[in-house]
Amino acid sequence: MIKKCLFPAAGYGTRFLPATKAMPKEMLPVVNKPLIQYGVEEALDAGLTEISIVTGRGKRALEDHFDISYELENQIKGTDKEKYLVGIRKLLDNCSFSYTRQTEMKGLGHAILTGRPLIGDEPFAVVLADDLCVNLEGDGVLTQMVKLYKQFRCSIVAIQEVDPQETNKYGVIAGEMIRDDIYRVHSMVEKPKPEDAPSNLAIIGRYILTPDIFDLIEQTEPGKGGEIQITDALMKQAQNGCVMAYKFKGKRFDCGGAEGYIDATNFCFENFYKTGKAY
Ligand code: G1P
Repeated sequence: MIKKCLFPAAGYGTRFLPATKAMPKEMLPVVNKPLIQYGVEEALDAGLTEISIVTGRGKRALEDHFDISYELENQIKGTDKEKYLVGIRKLLDNCSFSYTRQTEMKGLGHAILTGRPLIGDEPFAVVLADDLCVNLEGDGVLTQMVKLYKQFRCSIVAIQEVDPQETNKYGVIAGEMIRDDIYRVHSMVEKPKPEDAPSNLAIIGRYILTPDIFDLIEQTEPGKGGEIQITDALMKQAQNGCVMAYKFKGKRFDCGGAEGYIDATNFCFENFYKTGKAY
């Protein structure tokens, strides 16, 4: 079964400068918790306990976050502030964390390939932490996808319908609908202009990938923006075998930009922080 979850986290976070100049964008807090912690919690909920993070220069705060701070723990021991660390403690007690560094920024496909030594030859999940996904009604998005993987045994991308004018921000799929929320992917384009988009079904930052994707990425030439795109490698996988696209249940906030980040903050404040579920 799937145990590993890869977090590509080497990007510069340019859409959030200057906040991200000296701080990793994955550490931006949504109310009281950094973005990446929401992602790791979602992974653990789905039973993924081996967390692999592709980092880069200036990202050491990520490693420190997923570690015990003895001084701090000592300081708050026995006080009512101990509750603030219950959530992160749960992650530390139940997950392992491994890191590798991406030394050059050559795109998401390249970042995922950089994680290969941490993943090996098994299926794995990928979380882009700046897409914050929540489902108040039931299973988290990765849990939903892991369940589907058990059924289909092939790569799965999470999708949502977007405004047709916004296709140029996403990988976009087209395929055959085999259930009202599942498509077998026929084609996939990275960030097409609205007039070239095969649909308005956009890939968001949750993937389950079978390990043959690594060789396919290796064979993938730079695409959109001169970067090695996971979308192009997945397209080859879809042509040779099978890739599914899944319209997930829940909400997704694009926290890589101000508007989505503020929406996520308001949502988490109302639904988690005020209700005492935020730690
Ligand atoms: C990446 C992928 C894109 C996907 C998006 C989801 O783009 O390349 O296919 O739709 O993540 O967030 P980025 O947002 O990193 O430019």
